[in-house]
Amino acid sequence: MSVKLHKEYETSAIMDIQNVVVIGTGAMGSGIAYITAVAGFNVTVLDREQKFLDAGMNKIKQALMQGIDRGKMSPAEGEKVFKRIKSSLNLSEAVDGAHLVIEAVFEDMDVKKQVFSELSKHASPETILASNTSTLSITEIATVVEKPERVIGLHFFNPPAAMKLVEVVLGEKTDENVKEKAIQFVEKLGKTPIVTKDSPGFIVNRVLLPALNEAAKLLDEGVAAPEDIDKALVLGANFPVGPLTLADMVGLDVALASQRTMERSFGSCYKPAEILVKLVEEGNLGVKTGKGFFQYK
Ligand SMILES: NC(=O)c1ccc[n+]([C@@H]2O[C@H](COP(=O)([O-])OP(=O)(O)OC[C@H]3O[C@@H](n4cnc5c(N)ncnc54)[C@H](O)[C@@H]3O)[C@@H](O)[C@H]2O)c1
Repeated sequence: MSVKLHKEYETSAIMDIQNVVVIGTGAMGSGIAYITAVAGFNVTVLDREQKFLDAGMNKIKQALMQGIDRGKMSPAEGEKVFKRIKSSLNLSEAVDGAHLVIEAVFEDMDVKKQVFSELSKHASPETILASNTSTLSITEIATVVEKPERVIGLHFFNPPAAMKLVEVVLGEKTDENVKEKAIQFVEKLGKTPIVTKDSPGFIVNRVLLPALNEAAKLLDEGVAAPEDIDKALVLGANFPVGPLTLADMVGLDVALASQRTMERSFGSCYKPAEILVKLVEEGNLGVKTGKGFFQYK
């Protein structure tokens, strides 16, 4: 596949990546910050409010403790990794000296554009700006950024510490050198990069989201019990976890927002299952709230 890249951006100024900022310390941001610090990069994490930042830092600490318990690193190494992670509530301070920013805020175009327009104002023009969006257009996010050539998608999977793939998503204006630097970064994390054009859901979610939604539609139609739907796909199609369990792990709010992007792009075959909408309206978002398709407490 050949992907056309923008040629005019002066990329010689793009530096090797050492300092990384992760915006949003939820399920994905905290995991991305953890693996980035483990790989030796300096990391600053940022969130909206102190309570979310504290929750994110706690998740990172737990991941480090687990790493130590499982013999992946010594306590002294764990401490070194933790010292490489700073936290901040101030975007302009956080991005000072950053070579790469990875945004992992809500799956909402308006929220992402707000963050990227702040980044455009405060980050150096040479800073690479990446989004971890599951489905949204990198090209559209880049419209609010001066020098959109430095905007790229880096789509990690959940949980980032365990999942080997990162989709490297090229917006219409993404520069070749930005792509190369992003790929090198992903490889330094020990992950496998796959380059994809900017198309809703990219590769994995284009294929995976319909499976999760169809599993939920089986519940809408009363075809089978949730446990049996999951068991069917695990035993009959070799899914590592059932689709309803996977949706609970992803977060039903994230799954619904992603499904709605797909519906807007590809039409009613992606219409979200009624039970998915209902669970989100009730605040039952899966593992993170203790209840989704299944109970977790
Ligand atoms: N959950 C998954 O399985 C998964 C997998 C791959 C990609 N993603 C994508 O990653 C992104 C984050 O998903 P998540 O599951 O981690 O969500 P989440 O709800 O767990 O976390 C989002 C975090 O962003 C913070 N935030 C929101 N607005 C902010 C702002 N303006 N400035 C700073 N912080 C802000 C929130 O406080 C929260 O801590 C989404 O785009 C999602 O589609 C999610």
